[in-house]
Amino acid sequence: MKNILVTGAAGFIGSAFARYMVKKYPHYNIIVYDKLTYAGNLNNLSEIDDEGNYRFERGDIAARDVVRGILQKYDIDTIVNFAAESHVDRSILNPDAFIHTDVVGVYILLDEGRKHGIERFLQVSTDEVYGDVETGYSTEDDRFLPNSPYAASKAGGELMVRAYHVTHGMNTVITRGSNTFGPYQYPEKLLPLFITEAIDNRPLPLYGDGMQVRDWLYVDDHVTGIDVALHHGVAGEAYNIAGENEQHNIDVIKAMLKLLGKPETLIKHVPDREGHDRRYAMNCDKLRALGWQRQYDFPQALALTVQWYQDNEWWWREIKTGEYLEYFKRQYADRLAAADQDQPNNH
Ligand SMILES: NC(=O)c1ccc[n+]([C@@H]2O[C@H](COP(=O)([O-])OP(=O)(O)OC[C@H]3O[C@@H](n4cnc5c(N)ncnc54)[C@H](O)[C@@H]3O)[C@@H](O)[C@H]2O)c1
Repeated sequence: MKNILVTGAAGFIGSAFARYMVKKYPHYNIIVYDKLTYAGNLNNLSEIDDEGNYRFERGDIAARDVVRGILQKYDIDTIVNFAAESHVDRSILNPDAFIHTDVVGVYILLDEGRKHGIERFLQVSTDEVYGDVETGYSTEDDRFLPNSPYAASKAGGELMVRAYHVTHGMNTVITRGSNTFGPYQYPEKLLPLFITEAIDNRPLPLYGDGMQVRDWLYVDDHVTGIDVALHHGVAGEAYNIAGENEQHNIDVIKAMLKLLGKPETLIKHVPDREGHDRRYAMNCDKLRALGWQRQYDFPQALALTVQWYQDNEWWWREIKTGEYLEYFKRQYADRLAAADQDQPNNH
């Protein structure tokens, strides 16, 4: 491994991975390739701008000729693919982009990667491919039961990775991370959305009863999980990366409000997301057996995250303009209005 193409690394988790890899492995060249969609942000990578082993190239993973050119230009031997449309609500509003990137884009990366002779391909996937898990914990061999267009598109991408391993003998590894949080997360996702809205004393539109269970994983732990799977994962295998920290959404939000010193009355229950899964939970013994261990406990990671958004208003205030405001209105305006009518005392 020498020249690693990290796709989608101007986003939340990919940028954390790029910042970590550039510093941890000075003998690797890290080439970030990102389309810079609404979710991509070069500010996420400014910390490593001056590092000699980091390069940035803008492009779409589904643009075959551009991908081929980049693989040749940097003599790439390894691909780690974070690039995705990643927000469930947007996949309900407009699934086209999800099929384009999460399915077709993954296929193009695999196909061009194979022709170029890359030695390792890691696909970053999600616990959402398993679907709703009422009881127990998903293991890597469980069947896929995706329920949102996002989860289905990620499952489709994974199946193509599997096919390229079985059919062409490509050296592939898949990671399935759980609900990730931390600095630099685009403020459309639950926690950064609610932290930044709460800082401004605005109502927090919580879906349904807020009793959905997610397994909360700190971004730095997700990144080290990918590092371990990249270096030690067995070809053709998938590895769950779990936080082993199940929480109801409403409890996370109450803990966050306490850290900010804001009242729980900011929480507004709004009509639920369509097809909203109640619970995800995974077993991660398989990755642990490769030597991975979480470093952060939840209260510590939540406090670090809340503090980061308090200290870095410049980062998120720049995002919360233009297209973002349009999206927020489309997603929440009617829901907040309905909540006002249903629950006049729900401030
Ligand atoms: N956020 C989570 O909780 C979570 C959990 C498990 C797995 N994942 C997976 O991890 C990966 C990263 O998630 P994230 O939360 O950092 O996402 P994100 O939305 O913050 O970032 C996605 C990045 O991909 C880029 N991108 C989108 N389409 C592209 C294309 N066609 N070509 C090139 N670049 C493109 C965007 O510009 C952006 O920089 C995704 O594959 C996601 O499915 C996320």
